[in-house]
Amino acid sequence: MNNKLVIANWKMHGHQAANARLIGGLLPTLERLDSVQVAICPPTPYLAQVSELLADTAVAIGAQNLSERAQGAYTGEVSGQMLADLGCRYVLVGHSERRSLFGETDAQVAMKFEAALAAGLTPVLCLGESIHQRRAGNTNAVVGSQLKAVLDQVGIEQLAKGVIAYEPVWAIGTGASASPEQAQQAHLHIRQLLAAHAPALASRIALLYGGSVNATNAAELFAQHDIDGGLIGGASLDAACFSAICQAADTGALPVSADNIYNKDPA
Ligand code: PGA
Repeated sequence: MNNKLVIANWKMHGHQAANARLIGGLLPTLERLDSVQVAICPPTPYLAQVSELLADTAVAIGAQNLSERAQGAYTGEVSGQMLADLGCRYVLVGHSERRSLFGETDAQVAMKFEAALAAGLTPVLCLGESIHQRRAGNTNAVVGSQLKAVLDQVGIEQLAKGVIAYEPVWAIGTGASASPEQAQQAHLHIRQLLAAHAPALASRIALLYGGSVNATNAAELFAQHDIDGGLIGGASLDAACFSAICQAADTGALPVSADNIYNKDPA
């Protein structure tokens, strides 16, 4: 996997003026990147604004969540088709904040993953253990069962149309990133679980690391064999920090090409 993928997760931050300033601060760097695909996931109400600001650039947009339903009387929900209609390429699925604060279950996450694919979006499946689970030695088991829920729902061929983000809950927003070794270990475990189903596909699925990535630790994390990019929260709200993270991912190994799997329409 040569071309890295870096996704900004703005969470529930921003307003129109700040969004325009942030994108304006990022574009000089993002437009010069060589071998990295960047995507920005703003809050849903700002998707159209950010899409407009990124028009004519190679930067993609994504959403932070979607409904598992296609359409209907579901007040307040947003469907995958609506996100695709707004120009989204990616959608986060099963972020730990959705799981822990909004009660999303493994089964619901699996349905959302399937709904995203049905809408032609690339789902970014977030997996990760809590600090208690890690201390109890259950990291692999937790991540394995979160992954299995989606595999059971869609199968390996469909799962391989998505992206996986390993995000240890204890590292999210805490400033305490996983060490490169810890992250690599978890990524290797995920890669091996996928390889048990389909070895050829497993090596092509992008595995992102997320959890307190910043301008200082990004290069070392991205240098790990099984880390194909990052999902960036807090540091994506600062133009200088996010620019530096994207540059750290820009290995220059290969130019972004038409057959880069991240650019393919997954439908
Ligand atoms: P963080 O968040 O970079 O602020 O730790 C990552 C995420 O939640 O996706």
